[in-house]
Amino acid sequence: MNIENYSVELNEYDMPLLQGLKDYSDRHIACFDVPGHVKNRGVKVLNEFLGENLMKMDINSSPYMDNVSKPNGIIKKAQDLLAKAYDCDKAFFVTNGTTQAIQAMILSIINPKDKILLPRNIHKSVINALILSGGEPVYIQPEFDECLGISLNVSYLSVKNELEKNSDIKAIFLLNPTYYGACCDLEKIIDLCKKHSVLVLVDEAHGAHFPFHDDLPPSAMKLEADMAAVSMHKTGGALTQASALLVNEENIDVEKVSQTLNMLQSTSASYLLMSSIDGARYNLINNGRSQLSKVLNISKYAKYRINKIPGIKVIGHNNCGREGLNFLDETKLCINVKDLNVTGFKVYDILYQNFDIQVELGDLHNVLALISLGTTKGDVDRLINALEIISKKYKNSAVLEFSSLKPINPTVKISPRDAYYSEKEILNIDNSINRICGENIMAYPPGIPIISPGEIITKEILDYIKILKNSNAYLTDMHDKELNTILVIKER
Ligand SMILES: Cc1ncc(COP(=O)(O)O)c(C=O)c1O
Repeated sequence: MNIENYSVELNEYDMPLLQGLKDYSDRHIACFDVPGHVKNRGVKVLNEFLGENLMKMDINSSPYMDNVSKPNGIIKKAQDLLAKAYDCDKAFFVTNGTTQAIQAMILSIINPKDKILLPRNIHKSVINALILSGGEPVYIQPEFDECLGISLNVSYLSVKNELEKNSDIKAIFLLNPTYYGACCDLEKIIDLCKKHSVLVLVDEAHGAHFPFHDDLPPSAMKLEADMAAVSMHKTGGALTQASALLVNEENIDVEKVSQTLNMLQSTSASYLLMSSIDGARYNLINNGRSQLSKVLNISKYAKYRINKIPGIKVIGHNNCGREGLNFLDETKLCINVKDLNVTGFKVYDILYQNFDIQVELGDLHNVLALISLGTTKGDVDRLINALEIISKKYKNSAVLEFSSLKPINPTVKISPRDAYYSEKEILNIDNSINRICGENIMAYPPGIPIISPGEIITKEILDYIKILKNSNAYLTDMHDKELNTILVIKER
């Protein structure tokens, strides 16, 4: 079998890449190419741990199996089917996660000194994309929920104000949804941006499932955003790190996007990852609606039961319909434990250590549990049972010292790129107030920087970092793991 076999018109019930890969791996080809494990023969321990099929299907590109750099065979067909599934003009497979899709999206649009409007609760990949591109961020402060202690999405009015204040904005970057499932009024904001000739780029890392059920928030491509980066591996069912960049062509130079992706993409992009996107897309088309109906029912049940547990509540549709939370992705359970006077970090640890339950993240006041394509009612019952036990144990705890959190609003002094290339010095963290930060500091997940290169360090930011540190948050990216020191820009 070779790529010519796929020249016939395909429909969405086909899996050109996954099937092509399976057919290829089943043939008795004598391999004198990479990878050097040579199917399932060279490294037996990998067969044992990963499975023979997987090893046989781990191949590299060839004219017969297509090449993601300039696809014209089974990869192209699979990408075209993905574009059709997401109602957009063009889809690119990306094998280094949505991090790479976001970087390609920004690099292909934003030139040095171009201004991009974006909320401050973005993932670190966006700041890093601005370091690479030389773009200048103009931040919109997202809405904040004091009870949850988290940022929501942006309001229409805040976008309108910024667009009126800054006539030279080239593009806006939006989250659909936030990590916690909060969606803005994307349709109205896209309309507004089109009137201002501002390109709309969307981080849909947590919304790969949106187009496949009517009761989920609308997807970016359907609302005619210009580009969206979609983590097929998060809620779409593909293998970890498999992502896609989706494009509506009207205002976008697709060739430039393709070149930019090639600049960032490995020349040995994983067929396992790419074909898993093809299989996940096939599943979403064929089974998505019924699977997501089940997911939404399980989520409704979970919310009903968890809301009855003393000291614990979950955000649901009654919290929706306000700015920054115009729509909610109901598959995400943001479980607020603030009234138990215990941190979300602690509940995260207890769930894992005492109950063998892995949730997506913990923060100061919440744990986030995702109901996904494979979640069962039995899994949810285990979570409810564990939360009931935790509620009983902690209900009389002393009030936490940081019971009221305020939004952090850092001021950008120099662009992320200028900060990256500036000379830096290490200071004791307590002596760093009013200096320009030289590094990213964040809790992961969610990977949203508390402070980024180029921003002013304030007492408020240091206090927040200390609260996180003392609460056992998993802090990453800074040079000093203990956070006794911090990297700052050298003063001239
Ligand atoms: C909002 C958001 N955008 C982008 C990313 C990056 O995605 P990936 O891990 O696929 O690179 C993440 C990862 O958690 C995220 O939460």
